[in-house]
Amino acid sequence: MSITKFDGILYGGDYCPEQWDEHIWLEDIQIMKYYNVNAVTLNVHSWCILQPKEGPYDFTKMDKMIKLLTDNQINIIMATGTAALPNWLLNKYPDMMAEDITGVRHKPGKRVNYCPNSPDYLREIKNMCEALADHYKAQENIVLWHLNNELEINCYCTNCAGKYREWLKTKYGSLKALNQKWNTMFWGHQYSAWEEINPPVYANMIYRNLDGTGIDISGFPTETIEYLRYMSISYRNCFEIEKEAIRKYIPDAVVTNNFQYRNFNYDILAKPLDVVSFDTYPSNGEPAYKAAFNYDITRGMNGLKPFLIMEMSPNQASWEKCAPIKRPGQVAQIAMGALARGAESAMFFQIRRSRSGFEKFHGAMIDHSGRTDTRLGRELMELGNAFKKLKNTFLDSKIPARTAIIMDWDCRWGVEIPSSVQKNMHYLEEVLYYYEWLHAQNIMVDVVRADSDFSGYDIVLGPMLYMIEENEADNIKAFVENGGTFITTYYSGLADKEDNIWMGGYPALWKDMLGLWIEETDALKVEQSNIVQMSASWLTGDYQCGFLCDLIRAEGAKVLGTYGDDFYQGIPCITENEYGAGKAVYIGTKPEKKLLNELLKHYCDEKNIEPILSTQAGVEAVMRMNDDKRYLFLFNHNINVETVALGEQYKDVLQDVVIEKVELPVMGYAILEKMNF
Ligand code: GLA
Ligand code: ZN
Repeated sequence: MSITKFDGILYGGDYCPEQWDEHIWLEDIQIMKYYNVNAVTLNVHSWCILQPKEGPYDFTKMDKMIKLLTDNQINIIMATGTAALPNWLLNKYPDMMAEDITGVRHKPGKRVNYCPNSPDYLREIKNMCEALADHYKAQENIVLWHLNNELEINCYCTNCAGKYREWLKTKYGSLKALNQKWNTMFWGHQYSAWEEINPPVYANMIYRNLDGTGIDISGFPTETIEYLRYMSISYRNCFEIEKEAIRKYIPDAVVTNNFQYRNFNYDILAKPLDVVSFDTYPSNGEPAYKAAFNYDITRGMNGLKPFLIMEMSPNQASWEKCAPIKRPGQVAQIAMGALARGAESAMFFQIRRSRSGFEKFHGAMIDHSGRTDTRLGRELMELGNAFKKLKNTFLDSKIPARTAIIMDWDCRWGVEIPSSVQKNMHYLEEVLYYYEWLHAQNIMVDVVRADSDFSGYDIVLGPMLYMIEENEADNIKAFVENGGTFITTYYSGLADKEDNIWMGGYPALWKDMLGLWIEETDALKVEQSNIVQMSASWLTGDYQCGFLCDLIRAEGAKVLGTYGDDFYQGIPCITENEYGAGKAVYIGTKPEKKLLNELLKHYCDEKNIEPILSTQAGVEAVMRMNDDKRYLFLFNHNINVETVALGEQYKDVLQDVVIEKVELPVMGYAILEKMNF
């Protein structure tokens, strides 16, 4: 079954009929057909034509566009258009515009400038969504509803402050409870009335670029995190309002929003969505594991089920400081790379390149020449052909992962709103440091939460899992007790979600599981390092380490490595503890890659976790499977042609030939079906 109402892979992109005369629409439809486009996203920026001035909605132009697409058997992804508001509306209701962290209110101009708690905004988006859904309720080829558009900003206005207080009242029940949970005795900051609580801005609790470090610091991280969480809840509320308005007329409408992993709690935002979409914009030369990680995150956001790619650029991403053109084969490789990890679409931003504005040089399926007899035109047509051939081959298939990485959006704030001894921390980069090796080995990984069901995994990694609630800590302990291997690092298990430290020796909730506690943590400058002296039965020798150095007091844990330098030479930094039927491994410093590789390899070997296929470096292998099929995806990320030995028979799904080895051109890919298993 498809996650949208379309039984195949959605291929197409955003189209902006409002930017073009109707004779151009006709030309564009022909080009879409030539490219095998089967889906078009409409209305992301079209409020201006649906309601050019105050008064009734006018669907005339949109109807024409929709008829044209329908006559040409093209599906529609209908956006609600609520991220780009017309000038008359913003001028009439200035409170619709967000106030930024400096206290400046936006003025009509850019898009994504609205306040998610403005009663005027909420009323207008509800009306718009109801009108759209009512008008298009019989439009069979609308396969998906696209709520709003990529979220970008947070608002700090008085509307938001008022709603925030109401939410806090419900969450904590009493000021006393709030003061306690927020531990407001710090700096004598307790609240004696709800009205005293305000969003965290520069004027009250954020230190701007303190001591010239270039980093903003919150005096009260608990409150900053709480407010950011509330902002995500506010946007969730917007999604819910839109969804409810649509469902009033189309009870089985499927809704999505396109994520980019910015300053939000995406678990909160995902709640009302039927499917989470991702906008993928890998930079040229960016290592492949980064995009792969985003796809694995997004599959995780969908309960490990398929997801959608709502945007990618068929050529340059013009917002890049220096935007190279996509190399031959690159577009298909990106699209198929996402497909391999669970995507059910390849949608572009956008179909026709705009004539002016910020995105006039952004890649598009149709560029200013309007021609298709171009390098890119051929590639887009071939990609469309490939999707046509693949049809619904991959719908509902799964990725066979026995290894999981825990990632937590609150932890990201806990780590990056700095109040720690090391200011230069990037949560996702830390998680990526571990993911990178697994990716390079062609080991499939699910990205999960600390309270997920771990029963299908042999290894769970929790790098820099700074914030943890008791139930999550217990879930991890149960996994280890039942025989799993849990690998965690410095700066893990330290605080609850209100950013209060768990007392009694770090990491208090896991001391027994890890068989240790941490007495002190040293912070090293970029140019500084220490040494890990490994003394495990399976690995000895010296390796570099740095960044953070936990001084571990082993109480039951087996010491695998000790520091080789500084006054804490000889003190443990890497340990392993048998706990129940499993093992808890603690990596108390940032090991150089060579050592990390040895560590991860050892624990994967112990659990017989094997690559999907052993390949030469730079060749990525991914597997999607369902009950009776195994599909192997191969990607060549090297700068030369690669021949990959498969070791057994596979059918090349696009070429219809049975092979035992495959030649991958530069930027090439192959989709293979296993013959016997
Ligand atoms: C974002 C937006 C799109 C477009 C692209 C350009 O992803 O959602 O509307 O502006 O950026 O890359
Ligand atoms: Zn606001």
